[in-house]
Amino acid sequence: MKNFKQDIASQIYEVTNINEKELETYIETPKDTKNGDYSFPCFRLAKELKKAPPAIANELKEKLENKIEKNENIEKVKVSGGYLNFFINKNILIKEVLTEISNEKEYGKSEIGKGKNIIVEYSSPNIAKPFHIGHLRTTLIGNSLYKIYKYLGYNTIGINHLGDYGTQFGKMIEAYKMWENEYNLEEDPINKMMDMYVRINNLCKQDEEVLERCRQNFKLLEDGDKYCVDLWNKFKDLSMIEFNKIYDILNVKFDSYNGEAFYADKIDDVIKVLEEKGKLQESDGAKIVDLEDVGISTPCLVQKANGSSIYATRDLAAIMYRAKTYNFDKCLYVVAYEQNLHFKQIFAVAKYLVDEKYAKGLKHVSYGMVSLPTGRMSTRLGNVVKIEDLINGTIEKAEEIITEKNAQLKNKEEVAKKVGIGAIIFNTLSTATIKDQIFDWDTALNFQGETGAYIQYTYVRTKSVLEKVGYIPKFEDIKVENLLDEHSLEILKLIYNFKDTLIQVTDKNEPSILSKYLIELAKAYSSFYNENKIITEDKQLQDARVYLTYAVGLVLKQGAELLGMEMPEKM
Ligand code: ARG
Repeated sequence: MKNFKQDIASQIYEVTNINEKELETYIETPKDTKNGDYSFPCFRLAKELKKAPPAIANELKEKLENKIEKNENIEKVKVSGGYLNFFINKNILIKEVLTEISNEKEYGKSEIGKGKNIIVEYSSPNIAKPFHIGHLRTTLIGNSLYKIYKYLGYNTIGINHLGDYGTQFGKMIEAYKMWENEYNLEEDPINKMMDMYVRINNLCKQDEEVLERCRQNFKLLEDGDKYCVDLWNKFKDLSMIEFNKIYDILNVKFDSYNGEAFYADKIDDVIKVLEEKGKLQESDGAKIVDLEDVGISTPCLVQKANGSSIYATRDLAAIMYRAKTYNFDKCLYVVAYEQNLHFKQIFAVAKYLVDEKYAKGLKHVSYGMVSLPTGRMSTRLGNVVKIEDLINGTIEKAEEIITEKNAQLKNKEEVAKKVGIGAIIFNTLSTATIKDQIFDWDTALNFQGETGAYIQYTYVRTKSVLEKVGYIPKFEDIKVENLLDEHSLEILKLIYNFKDTLIQVTDKNEPSILSKYLIELAKAYSSFYNENKIITEDKQLQDARVYLTYAVGLVLKQGAELLGMEMPEKM
């Protein structure tokens, strides 16, 4: 597809000699189309050219005018304050978009990531502990990033870095030894294991002897004692059954479940390299890496006084292993912002452990807190929300709403599942990743708000238009002049920007860019639908509008799927 942005950047390059790629990143798409289709903020060059932005804009315009007259892609350029506004040739835009839509089954798919390896680490719950609402957020953000990178041609590896290691397992083993008969773990595994853990933990606080036995158990586990390893596996299997229920409903998959335990026997390399480079220091018998000179005041603890590894050490071992195994270009960690310091520290230490190329590719995709509103929902679900209950509750609620709106609908249950899960996914991915958010049924399931249900509803609307007319026109028959009205053009421009939107998501590791895009597209279609009669006497006009409807449906569906949602055909 023609790249208008690139074209504009190369024109500016010719008259300024400033790096074309850099220029391209400056180009914006103005909200109001009256200000053109693309706009170049001249303040970006003010420092370099030592002039005020409006002066730069005027000068550039003068120099560009001649070239633009000869360039068929660009209609005209206008100055507005410190901005240079470009108006592209609408006929070309329309033809480009329609051709691309007709050619591609998977619109916007690309190969730009070819040959690059991207690790997305997401979900990573802890064994024998509840999968909480924060884990839901990393699961959905990671799943979407995984899909989008893949769609852009990257070789993508999804890793669930399970929290399956640590001294708490020594305690769990002791609890099991003592109270095996009191707990029927199979019945409600995670809660029962939680109860056992809380109980043994309290006991350890009172009884030094019990604590010592727990330490022994952990040592035995580390040394591969069969009884302890078998028990640890049992805890892990029971937890995975629960986690998999959630992954199954959400249709989330991973390529690897190598968690913390996987790295327990790989920490010697970490210690060895740090030792060789003289980066390890003793502190009360423990080993630490001082990070003061890189601006981090808290040192990174890598080995406890008793010689065992900690969470950070296992992460460091994982970085070395992943560099070697996956030769990654980027390794993303979708983890809550509470762990900001942890990632700062391990990324700093990683510079001593792996090549610069890898150290530079490490990225913490930090997300904010999720909470539930007080009131109706929390009373119904209790204080500690089981994620499975939250999901099922949302599906039930979706079914109520659907039944109210469309009692006749067939396979209501299936639709409710798509709408309910879609509501959770879209709600999670529509807030900027770093921001805190609230999950509230009423907002998330509103068919008219900025929600997943609204995207699905708009998609279903395009489907019913196509069903009503009973055909999809051939794109060769579409007359460009029938799509030059304001509403059609707005849609066409958005569709044109789809691929660019996906690239922005990967540049910023921010799926909310795609959610916002889909809302804009759905809104644009609603205006189009309300203002333009689709079924009309004028067959050519009808064809053009039906085709545009078809295109909107295609892009909405593709985009939603990249967020992890499924589309109902009716609702
Ligand atoms: N298991 C941790 C938790 O639930 C998250 C793990 C994050 N990933 C990592 N490589 N440290 O908080």
